[in-house]
Amino acid sequence: MNNDRYTHPDARVVDAVIRSRRAVRAFRQDAIARDVVDQILDVARNAPSNANTQPWRVDVLAGREKAALSEVLRRAHDEDLHPPLKYLPDLLPDTLRTRQESFGATYYGALGVPKEDFQQRARVTARNFDFFGAPVGLIFSIDSTLTKFSWLDYGIFLQTVMMAARAVGLDTCPQVSFARFQNVIAEHLELPSGFEVVCGMSLGLSDCDSPVGSLEMKREPVQNFARFRGFES
Ligand SMILES: Cc1cc2nc3c(=O)[nH]c(=O)nc-3n(C[C@H](O)[C@H](O)[C@H](O)COP(=O)(O)O)c2cc1C
Repeated sequence: MNNDRYTHPDARVVDAVIRSRRAVRAFRQDAIARDVVDQILDVARNAPSNANTQPWRVDVLAGREKAALSEVLRRAHDEDLHPPLKYLPDLLPDTLRTRQESFGATYYGALGVPKEDFQQRARVTARNFDFFGAPVGLIFSIDSTLTKFSWLDYGIFLQTVMMAARAVGLDTCPQVSFARFQNVIAEHLELPSGFEVVCGMSLGLSDCDSPVGSLEMKREPVQNFARFRGFES
């Protein structure tokens, strides 16, 4: 069978957009127009979801509104009264632990922060709440009665947002760090009752001069995670 029949005319562009995304942790200050963010979300709303429930809510912040949230969160981070966010279990499978350590070595290594320097690491973590200097910050939330299947929808939506951003030349960093300060954010943004923060996201143009403007994280080759069965060629 001729595979060309199944090739979308924009397939190469889509591949390039997917491959070009990086979690960017240093942004230029250039403002992003509201229309541009609106356009990104207008593309992302095409993401699929279980029974088309579309469980996403997005608060889009710029200017003073973004600065005000950052300020509140920086204070909460400095006070250190909230328990640390356990975004991964303590007992990670060895292969995942190795990848996590490799990520840490690449990220903190690029910033010249030693593994054992917890104070400097905390300062690096705090940059999350400044949206790494990006002109736009997004906060994604969900009705907390929903289950992991709706969170699956959410992951697809988030990737679609990041792809739509790349398609207009913008960069992103998805940030689970915001979930540490659930109540602070819910109160500050007046989220609907019973909503919880899924994550935040920085949006803007990468500062290519920064060592963390476009870090390249390794990926496993396909044969390390996929098992093919029943193929004749
Ligand atoms: C759901 C999710 C949450 C993340 N949270 C953070 C975060 O809070 N802070 C951060 O600096 N990076 C965060 N990241 C970025 C990951 O560290 C990054 O995607 C990973 O190291 C792979 O690198 P790459 O995205 O540049 O390919 C998050 C990524 C995802 C998908």
